[in-house]
Amino acid sequence: MAPSNDSTAPAGPAPGDGPVLVTGGTGTLGRPLVAELLADGVPVRVMSRRPRRPDDDRPCEWAVCDLTKGVGLAAAVSGVRAIVHCATDPWREAMVLSRVVEAAREAGVGHLVYISIVGVDRVPFPYYKGKFAAERLLETSGLPYTILRATQFHNLVAAMATAQRRLPFALTPSGFRFQPVEVTEVAHRLAELVRGEAAGRVPDMGGPRVHTARELIEETLRSTGLSRRVVGLPLPGRTARAFRRGGNLAPDHATGKVTFAEFLASRTAD
Ligand SMILES: NC(=O)c1ccc[n+]([C@@H]2O[C@H](COP(=O)([O-])OP(=O)(O)OC[C@H]3O[C@@H](n4cnc5c(N)ncnc54)[C@H](OP(=O)(O)O)[C@@H]3O)[C@@H](O)[C@H]2O)c1
Repeated sequence: MAPSNDSTAPAGPAPGDGPVLVTGGTGTLGRPLVAELLADGVPVRVMSRRPRRPDDDRPCEWAVCDLTKGVGLAAAVSGVRAIVHCATDPWREAMVLSRVVEAAREAGVGHLVYISIVGVDRVPFPYYKGKFAAERLLETSGLPYTILRATQFHNLVAAMATAQRRLPFALTPSGFRFQPVEVTEVAHRLAELVRGEAAGRVPDMGGPRVHTARELIEETLRSTGLSRRVVGLPLPGRTARAFRRGGNLAPDHATGKVTFAEFLASRTAD
């Protein structure tokens, strides 16, 4: 099918032959996923709330859709063989997924892959609770599905430090640890999963090492040439306790290969 640059329903083929729809195909995870699928010769349709940028020459279709408002969804799913749901609405994660599930069911989509986060069932952070509810919804939807939980991406962890670059010191939540994973490796795994049969919940994916939040902040600051005192912030509450207990970690699934130091080095080189 010729790439389309609008939100009208493409006169699509049967779902079995159609493209893979990547919701959030413009995001941190979606972009490398789209690149990976295209490199493998898989036809792709990107979903975004915005029209395609004129300088975006990726050989894929484009569907304009706002999942929160529910606008453009039927056209976006029409004729697709599978969906990888990478779009996220932090406050309405389960509602948005329920819309995708309904539309997928009506369009006869054969496989829905959902990216979740390690520890959504252990850390009562509101966003995580929403993602856990979304997982439950998918598991009981009757649709063929796959769920992959990943740990925090390297760039998210690094952003915690760089966001503080204008402060005279850097704050870090005391006792928190992270196991950051390279986003392109998660994208690679999702591409593998969507090409396969629906597999239910698959093993979690974590980065190669567990670090203290302090180490990660110090390493990031060093890599950007900033010298700041790092101050531990003791956070109260159940969510912070769950993080301190390591609810966000998957040390038994340290399948990512790229280390945080390698990520920082490649960023500096860029
Ligand atoms: N970041 C991490 O460390 C991490 C770790 C594990 C799992 N995850 C999960 O991975 C997924 C992707 O995360 P990310 O970091 O790539 O997020 P991101 O960079 O913030 O991208 C979010 C995407 O969602 C789309 N989106 C937002 N609201 C939308 C709406 N109402 N309708 C349609 N599309 C909408 C955006 O597209 P437009 O702006 O183009 O509309 C954007 O492409 C999320 O489910 C997240 O929970 C993230």
